[in-house]
Amino acid sequence: MYQAHKDINKSPLRITGLNHIILKQFLRPGFCAIDATAGNGLDTLFLLRSINPGGYLTAFDIQALALENTENRIKTFFNNDKPNYQLIHDSHANIAQYIKEPVHVAVFNLGYLPGENHQITTSWNELKKALMMLTDGLIVPGGIISLTVYSGHEGGKHEQSNIFRYIKTLAPEKFNIHVTRKWNTVKPSPVLILIECL
Ligand SMILES: C[S@@+](CC[C@H](N)C(=O)[O-])C[C@H]1O[C@@H](n2cnc3c(N)ncnc32)[C@H](O)[C@@H]1O
Repeated sequence: MYQAHKDINKSPLRITGLNHIILKQFLRPGFCAIDATAGNGLDTLFLLRSINPGGYLTAFDIQALALENTENRIKTFFNNDKPNYQLIHDSHANIAQYIKEPVHVAVFNLGYLPGENHQITTSWNELKKALMMLTDGLIVPGGIISLTVYSGHEGGKHEQSNIFRYIKTLAPEKFNIHVTRKWNTVKPSPVLILIECL
C-alpha cells in the first residue's frame, strides 16, 4: 500500500543531515575520526556515537567557547560512559602535531560559530595545511574527508574557490570526489564536498 510522504516523521533534508547519512556508511565502532571544526559539537557527537565503543575522536577548534559547548554536549549524551576523545584548542592546520594514527573520517564544517563573532571564521590558509596532511596519507584508503562550505559570508567565496582549485589537483585514481548542494534556492546554499580515498 502506498504510504504518503507526510506519514514519515522526518524534517526536510538539509545538507548537514545529508552529510551525516553519507558519512554513516564510512563509520564503524573502533574507527578513528576527526572533527576539524568542533563549533557547537553536533558533528563531534555524531562522529563519537558512530565510532563508539572502541573508536577515538579528536575535535579541533580555535575558540574555547566552542570546545566548552562540545564538551557539554558529549557529557550530556554519554552521561557516565567514557568514550575516547580529545578536544584540542588549536587550529586544524596543526593536525600533524596531534594525530599519529590513520584516520577513517575527517569532517570540516566551515565558517563561523553560529550566534557568535562572524569574524572568527575558517580560512583557506589554515584549511589547506590540514587538507594536505590528510590527502598525503593521513586518511586511510576507504576513508573520507567531508567539507561543508558556506560561500554566503565574507571570506567564504575565497575559501570555496580555493577548495575547488585544490580538489582538481587530486589524482582521480586515488580520490573519488563528489560535490552536492541544494539546487532550488535563491540564496547561496552550502556546498558539500566529499573526498573519498580509494
Ligand atoms: C560552522 S562552525 C562548526 C559547526 C560544528 N561542526 C557543529 O556541528 O556545531 C565552524 C567552527 O570552526 C572554527 N574554526 C575556525 N577556524 C578554525 C581553525 N583554523 N581550526 C579549527 N577550528 C576553526 C570556528 O571557531 C567555529 O567554531
